[in-house]
Amino acid sequence: MTHVAIIMDGNGRWATARGRPREFGHRQGAESVRHVVEAAPDLGIGTVTLYAFSSDNWHRPAAEVTVLMKLFRRYLKSETAELVRNGVRLRVVGRRDRLDQQLVRAIERSEEATSGGTRLLLRLAVDYSARDLLVEAVRRAATAPDVERNSLANLLGQAMHGGGPAPDVDLLIRTGGEQRLSDFLLWECAYAELYFTPVMWPDFGAAELAEAVREFRSRHRRYGRVAVAS
Ligand code: IPE
Ligand code: IPE
Ligand code: MG
Repeated sequence: MTHVAIIMDGNGRWATARGRPREFGHRQGAESVRHVVEAAPDLGIGTVTLYAFSSDNWHRPAAEVTVLMKLFRRYLKSETAELVRNGVRLRVVGRRDRLDQQLVRAIERSEEATSGGTRLLLRLAVDYSARDLLVEAVRRAATAPDVERNSLANLLGQAMHGGGPAPDVDLLIRTGGEQRLSDFLLWECAYAELYFTPVMWPDFGAAELAEAVREFRSRHRRYGRVAVAS
C-alpha cells in the first residue's frame, strides 16, 4: 500500500489573496484534510502523513499559533466519529510536551477511539521536526551499539510516538508552490517521489490528490539500479 506524505502549505496566502485573515485559510484547510482522507483509500493509499504544524511554526505570532491549536482540537472533536466510521486509524506524530494538556488528552482519546481502523492510517504531524527526531533516535541508539537501518527506523518511530517503525514515504506532495522539505520526514523520504503543485492547500481536494497519484504511478523508481526494459 502506498504511503503519501503531504506538506499542506499555502493556507495563509490563499486567505490573503481573498482579503481575509490567515485564520480563514487554516479553517478552510481543515476541509481539505477531510476530502483527502475520504479519497485516499480508493486510490490505493494505505497511509497518509500530513504536516500540520512544524516545530519552527512556534515562531509564528502567538495569535496564529493559538488559532492553529484550537483548530486541531476542533478537528479531533468533530472528526473522530467520522474517522471511526470510515475505518481510519489516527496517530499524531511529533513532540507532545509543548502542547496544551487539553489538546494532548484530545489526541489520546482520538487515537484510542480510532485504534481499530484498518482502511487507512492517518498520521498527523504536530510540533514535528525531522532533525529533532533524528537526534532523539540517535540518542536512544547510543544504548544499542549494533544499530542499523531497521533499528534506527524503529527508534525514530518511538521518538515520534509513531507506534511502529518510521514508514518509508512513496510520494511526497507539497502544495502552495514552494519546493522544499521544511524539516519534514528527512529519513523516510530517502526514495520518495516528489510532487510539487502551485495549488494552495485550501483548494486541494480529491481530484488534485488523484492527479498526483496518477503521475506518481507513471514514474519509474529505480532505487539506484539500472532500469529493466519492460
Ligand atoms: C500551511 O499554510 C499551514 C501551516 C504551516 C500551519 P501556511 O500558514 O504556511 O500558509 P502560507 O505558506 O503562509 O501561505
Ligand atoms: C511547512 O510549511 C510546515 C507545514 C506545512 C506545517 P511552512 O510554511 O512553515 O514552511 P516554510 O517556512 O515555507 O519553509
Ligand atoms: Mg507556508
